[in-house]
Amino acid sequence: MSTPIDAQDEKGTIPTGSKGSTAMPVVVAVPKELAPGEQRVATVPEVVQKLTKLCLEVRVEHDAGTGAYYPDELFTAAGAKIVTSRTDLLDGARIVLRVQPPTVAEVDQLAGGTIVIGFMNATNNLEAVARMRDRRVTAFALELVPRITRAQSMDALSSQATAAGYTAAILGAGNCPKFLPMLTTAAGTIRPATVLILGAGVAGLMAIATAKRLGAIVEAYDVRRAAGEQVRSLGAKFLELEIDAESQGGYARELTPEEKAKEQQMVSAAVARADIVITTAAIPGRKAPLLITRETVATMRLGAVIVDLAAESGGNCELTQAGKTVHVHGITILGPQNLPSRVPFHSSQMYAKNLQSFLALLVDKEGAIAEEFTDEILVASLLVHAGEVLHRPTRELLSGVKP
Ligand SMILES: NC(=O)c1ccc[n+]([C@@H]2O[C@H](COP(=O)([O-])OP(=O)(O)OC[C@H]3O[C@@H](n4cnc5c(N)ncnc54)[C@H](O)[C@@H]3O)[C@@H](O)[C@H]2O)c1
Repeated sequence: MSTPIDAQDEKGTIPTGSKGSTAMPVVVAVPKELAPGEQRVATVPEVVQKLTKLCLEVRVEHDAGTGAYYPDELFTAAGAKIVTSRTDLLDGARIVLRVQPPTVAEVDQLAGGTIVIGFMNATNNLEAVARMRDRRVTAFALELVPRITRAQSMDALSSQATAAGYTAAILGAGNCPKFLPMLTTAAGTIRPATVLILGAGVAGLMAIATAKRLGAIVEAYDVRRAAGEQVRSLGAKFLELEIDAESQGGYARELTPEEKAKEQQMVSAAVARADIVITTAAIPGRKAPLLITRETVATMRLGAVIVDLAAESGGNCELTQAGKTVHVHGITILGPQNLPSRVPFHSSQMYAKNLQSFLALLVDKEGAIAEEFTDEILVASLLVHAGEVLHRPTRELLSGVKP
């Protein structure tokens, strides 16, 4: 993750182009998410109430919350204006709150100087980023918010990973032909199922907690040794390997070939004794590490289930297909995409609160947009501003793209 220093002045601040308080309230617009399968919405009525108290005018596109079970009437009761056309929604809007990155066509609907906040997935959305640059739109990418203590309340990666981890455990249980808890019944005793979690970051820890609550025996593994304490505190067994691959910012680094071989051996043995395997291993900016080979899948118990949360970034299992369910050797391999969208009510609630905290850095108590982006969280998450792409990896990729 780079520090966007290029647009900073000598004081280390970035002018926003805003002139402080004006008589007219700042308009915050919330469009309906149009990406296929996206059920979430960037704000919820409870947050709208807070934003209107900050003297902001909140406009919500008709039906924006329907998929997450927040109907238009609840937004109206909370003080938002429901707007039917996208043109009316964006007319005069200074801030746009989104979940998914805008498409090129959506960027073309924005006036220069508009501030868009949401997930930007910039390195995979170069065309839209270039368009925001050319239209002088300002974009904050929530995935670039630094993982520092002060930014916890706006850490949308964590809130959505929590939703994904929970949903993965439920999906695993729902596709497993066994009970998860131990049962002592008149019809005999049922042994508890074994759930293995590979990758104990935010999503993995939530999957562990959920599988424990369902009564399973839970084992977990992560290349960061520090994860061991968190795994054990949830009552699960941590599988130890003599590797500690914690790198910058608490993230994992890529393993050496020798380390990978040791890992595969230990993981294979654990996978073979599991009824459900939930994989969440990721390395920022890279393809997901391969943890379960096709040979390992062939050693699994009949009826076992793999839920591969890394499906969208290449998969932790060799046989995963993103967005599909694969049946092989009596094993079910799920490659779900956008799991937070399957629990859209609470995912949206958490995401909206993340955005509320983020907005508090950008807008003062009188509802005026800051004249300078001085806060380190704003500086780190500023992707595009004043005709420049400030995130170095994205900028470098863009410079390699032929016009
Ligand atoms: N505000 C904060 O302080 C804060 C908030 C959230 C997360 N964090 C930290 O950020 C870090 C990343 O969390 P995340 O959930 O975003 O992680 P992530 O989504 O990047 O990766 C998921 C997990 O996969 C693990 N992993 C990578 N390669 C692996 C391999 N080969 N085998 C097994 N596991 C592998 C990683 O160590 C990580 O725990 C963690 O240290 C977490 O505690 C800090």
